[in-house]
Amino acid sequence: MTSSFEKTSQVLISREQIAEAVKRMAHQIEIDYPTEMPLLVGVLKGSFIFLADLVRQMQRPVELDFLRLSSYGNDTRSSGRVRLRMGVTSLVKGRDVLVVEDVVDTGLTTSYAAKYLKRKGASSVKLCTLLDKPSRRHVPMAPDYVGFTVPNQFIVGYGLDFNEQYRHLPDICILTGGNHEP
Ligand code: PRP
Repeated sequence: MTSSFEKTSQVLISREQIAEAVKRMAHQIEIDYPTEMPLLVGVLKGSFIFLADLVRQMQRPVELDFLRLSSYGNDTRSSGRVRLRMGVTSLVKGRDVLVVEDVVDTGLTTSYAAKYLKRKGASSVKLCTLLDKPSRRHVPMAPDYVGFTVPNQFIVGYGLDFNEQYRHLPDICILTGGNHEP
């Protein structure tokens, strides 16, 4: 059966390409933290699939927590205001923290996350994102680990949504047709 979604989408990054990038990133993170693994903090909801795959590529025990931030609501454009919907419960003070994101766009969400974690006493905060859209930055932000740099198109799948739909898609797809401006 062909869904209407399939008619209006194209694969930008395949599941195989994603798997390779996730493996590479997990390996690099383990090299960069030789003594103690950082606390991984996934930013919900978008990061849930990436984080799940990332930790399963790691050879060493690693602790996780979650932060739920939201700036898009059900719109395709950032509201420009980040809302904290759920904070972390782990003790952050004195720890190295790695924020895990599905995508960095304007940079507002990750910049909020970094400030929040530093306020909680993290000794370092680094950022790992599967996708980076540097052309959309509003605040200067250079992620420490990037899977793919992507163009300014509206993308869904592998955790990323449009109106809460399409997060389940195994590939990262460009949403075309209709009014889905990036
Ligand atoms: C998306 C995405 C990032 C953020 C990036 O989250 O998951 O967290 O936007 O955008 P920015 O760099 O412009 O801040 P969203 O607010 O859509 O919530 P969601 O993760 O629940 O989909």
